[in-house]
Amino acid sequence: MENYDFDRIVERRGTDCVKWDGMERDFGRTDLLPFWVADMDFETPDFIRKALAERLAHPVYAYSLAPESYWESIIWWEKRLHGWEISRDSLTYIPGIVKGIGMVLQCFTQPGDGVVIQPPVYHPFRLVPQGMGREVLYNPLLPDGESYRMDFAGLEEICAGRKPKVLILSNPHNPGGIAWSKGTLAKVADICNEYGVLVVSDEIHADMPLFGHEIHSFATVSEAAAMNSICFGAPTKTFNIAGLVSSFAVVADPEIRNKFFSFLRAGELNDPTFIATTATRAAFSVEGDEWRRQMLHYVEGNIDYMDSYLKKNIPSIKALRPEASFLVWLDCRGIGLDQKALADLFINGAHLALNDGTMFGQGGEGHMRFNVGCPRALLREALERLGKALSAWFPGMVVD
Ligand SMILES: Cc1ncc(COP(=O)(O)O)c(C=O)c1O
Repeated sequence: MENYDFDRIVERRGTDCVKWDGMERDFGRTDLLPFWVADMDFETPDFIRKALAERLAHPVYAYSLAPESYWESIIWWEKRLHGWEISRDSLTYIPGIVKGIGMVLQCFTQPGDGVVIQPPVYHPFRLVPQGMGREVLYNPLLPDGESYRMDFAGLEEICAGRKPKVLILSNPHNPGGIAWSKGTLAKVADICNEYGVLVVSDEIHADMPLFGHEIHSFATVSEAAAMNSICFGAPTKTFNIAGLVSSFAVVADPEIRNKFFSFLRAGELNDPTFIATTATRAAFSVEGDEWRRQMLHYVEGNIDYMDSYLKKNIPSIKALRPEASFLVWLDCRGIGLDQKALADLFINGAHLALNDGTMFGQGGEGHMRFNVGCPRALLREALERLGKALSAWFPGMVVD
């Protein structure tokens, strides 16, 4: 068994990557350390690079089939990780999950139709329906201790009163890293079923449970959930291959499936490139599972490191310890700054690029999202920068 090295620092500048090369566009400066875009600064695993290199060594890159082994790898992986039995005919390729959300909205809704989201949540959940002229209906999450829970009464009220067509679910939840319980997901399914609201479950972070938490694929929690949902998955977050664009949808209900798959087929949106099938097959393997475990163990170490650093040195910032994935939701309200000044502190004071909490909608005020999918040396440097900037702005706020 190989021991992978997650401490290695990879120079990503100059590769046209959004996270490092896109800072000037989004933050107006280039001298920041980036912890924003949700990809990791680890090397894409060698067995994926090897599989791609072997295929690319062949001199023809023409039209290709999606081989059976590609579909089998997804079916095998979902069974192994989530105990989810997927039939081949319920499975399709989609070219990205945000695009997939747009396709569901085009296929199942009309301009003006309501789409429910539960902020604070991944911002394209709002931007995609808004951009398509759908009405976004908000059912904000309720603060619950240091985490959040869903507002079922609020959801029921929206479903009964506003008759939305679709609910977009972040499962597990980005930015809070919440692994929703089976009971919570089943309740969402019951309410949405009762009011005929189709659930789109975005499970792009679902293969990254942390600290012993369990992540349930929406379709596995009940018959009602399976038969009234479109679930999206991908190897892209877990294996750091988002630039290759490979995702899939699973639709158990034949009627919903027929409608959606016909829509995809009509535009040839269900045709993967050989880059996508080759990388996915290499990722969804025994080797891939071992790499995933080691990567998650390292990320857990980063979360522990950050949490104890903040508790000891910067107690005015609290980390919501994620139950899944590599994103940490920081509650910075203890510093007492308004959002503009908070962003200024991080960008121009500490020279760090994070996601501003307000981009995730209501409940994001006073928060920042920090991506800890990086070598620990970068994380250490970031926390030290933050500590220095805070003590310069507020002498006494940082504990030395
Ligand atoms: C919850 C969630 N969904 C979807 C995406 C993006 O997926 P894709 O690149 O397949 O559109 C992200 C990326 O950060 C995400 O966090």
